[in-house]
Order: sequence, then structure tokens, then C-alpha cells
Amino acid sequence: MAEIIAIANQKGGVGKTTSAVNLASALAHFGHKILLIDMDPQGNATSGLGFDKKQFAPNIYNVIIELLPMDQIIKETSVKNLSIAGSNSNLAGAEVELVSALARESRLKGALSSIKNNYTFIILDCPPSLGLLTINALNAADKIIVPIQGEYYAMEGVAQFMEAVQKIHAALNPKLELEGAVLTMFDSRMSLSVQVKDEVTRFFSSSLFKTIIPRNIRLAEAPGFGQNILQYDSRSRGAEAYLTLAEEFLSRRGLLAAKKTPSGACREQIKEEIKTIEESLT
Ligand SMILES: Nc1ncnc2c1ncn2[C@@H]1O[C@H](COP(=O)(O)OP(=O)(O)OP(=O)(O)O)[C@@H](O)[C@H]1O
Ligand SMILES: [Mg+2]
Repeated sequence: MAEIIAIANQKGGVGKTTSAVNLASALAHFGHKILLIDMDPQGNATSGLGFDKKQFAPNIYNVIIELLPMDQIIKETSVKNLSIAGSNSNLAGAEVELVSALARESRLKGALSSIKNNYTFIILDCPPSLGLLTINALNAADKIIVPIQGEYYAMEGVAQFMEAVQKIHAALNPKLELEGAVLTMFDSRMSLSVQVKDEVTRFFSSSLFKTIIPRNIRLAEAPGFGQNILQYDSRSRGAEAYLTLAEEFLSRRGLLAAKKTPSGACREQIKEEIKTIEESLT
């Protein structure tokens, strides 16, 4: 049965979608069957993987509001082992329509039960809010990963968000656990970054992923081409970082990465660079 991972932080623009798309893609690259669910009406994960979000119909809205079976909306992506349940702006209506709906917090959880056996991991890309869509995601999830932007005001709102997660754990979903935080868009040239890393480490302690996602222009460019970072530039530091994050994620579960990336030598070199950056920060 799939393990369900929500990528969530109520703060906007911190790297949730970039992490959801590229962690999902890296896990698929290592041979695991992955379903990515776009829970955000912005549909960035959907378009980021090359789909025209306006044409993605039916989509997760129809599953959550009309109880359409999940397998009727899932599409294969251009990435081997990676499927997607897309969304678009009509999902914004669900946030309102759910308020008066029966079992409004557990619509996604119910929908996933019939397809859970088909995947190793289901990754949920959450919107930047703590509305009913995020609550549905956290109610369905086993684990939560919180991307933290390694820049100004990184921790703003994080404590409140984690309190809300705690409440969902207590009231709705006792199996929900914090997988950890991941630092994103990290710029080691900024002295502030060191402070941010210290602060984030204090708050999340050992749950913080050792892998740090650097600020890398290729990561920002890739969605414009409807590609993940491994398709767009497999030799970039962004690709290396998300492959390493996926390896760390798998090794936490005692699962070894099944397949090595094609860019072997280059990858070692980039790994060294990232290590140097990390050492300069400790
Ligand atoms: N490591 C990175 N380096 C450079 N740019 C990045 C990186 N990660 C994300 N970005 C860019 O930063 C912006 C915000 O990232 P992203 O969309 O992943 O955040 P988000 O948390 O999903 O945002 P939202 O809250 O709106 O859903 C995007 O333009 C993205 O391409
Ligand atoms: Mg997003």
C-alpha cells in the first residue's frame, strides 16, 4: 500500500510545488511507482509536468466534490513510473463547496483507498493555505514534508502551521507524522542563510533533511517547458539536489535507490560542491 506524503507549508512561494514535482520525479527515476496529486487550484504541478491545466478534465475537483473515482482522472506523465492527478482553477470552488459537504475533511482520503495499492508513494502538492483542501491532504497523509525557503523570514508562520498540523493529528488523523523540513532556494553566499539554517535546525532538529536544495535557475526554468529538472537539465545542481533528497528519503525507509543517475561523473563533482557549501556553513 502506498505511503502518502503531503508537501505543505501555508506560506506561499517556498518551493512546495518544485519539491513535489522533482521529488516525485526523482523517486520515479529510482524505479518507484509514484502518483503526484495536485491539490492546488493554481495547478502548477499539473502545468509543470507538461499538461494544459485548462484541458485537465475531469480532475481532482470532480473527485472531491462529485466523488468521481480517482482512477478516472489519473494520467500517465512523460516520466516513467510517474502518474498525475491534475487540477486547475475550478478546484478553487471546492474550497467553498466543501464547507457544507458531508465528510468534508475526508473526501481525498476516501478517494485514495481504491488506488492506494497501485503505487509505492503518493505525493500531495498542497496550496499555500490551511483551508479544506490542505486539511483533506493532511487527513489523507501518513507524512508531511515542510519546505522552508532559506531566505528572509523563513520561519515566519511555521510554528503556527505546525500547531495546526498537530491539531489535525489529534482530531482527525492520528497516523499523520512530521517527516521533516527541507531547506529550499538556499543561497550559501548570503550570510543570512547560515542564520536561517541554524534557526530551522533548532526548530526541526533531526527531522530536517540533510540535503539542502540550492537556489538554481534551472529549477525555475524547467516548469516553463513542462519538464521536471531531470528532463530539463539532468546535470544541473537542482537535479543533483533533488536526486540526493530522494536518496535521503528512501534511505530513511531502508530503501536503496534502485537505479543510478546517468550523469555519474558530473554528479560526483556536483555532490562535492554541495558538500563544500554545507561544510562552509557548519
Ligand atoms: N531551488 C530553487 N531555485 C530557484 N528557483 C526556485 C527554486 N525552487 C523554487 N523556485 C521558484 O520559486 C517560485 C516558487 O516556487 P514554487 O512554485 O515551488 O513554490 P510553492 O511553495 O509551490 O508556491 P505556492 O505557495 O504559490 O504554491 C517558482 O517560480 C519556482 O520556479
Ligand atoms: Mg505550489
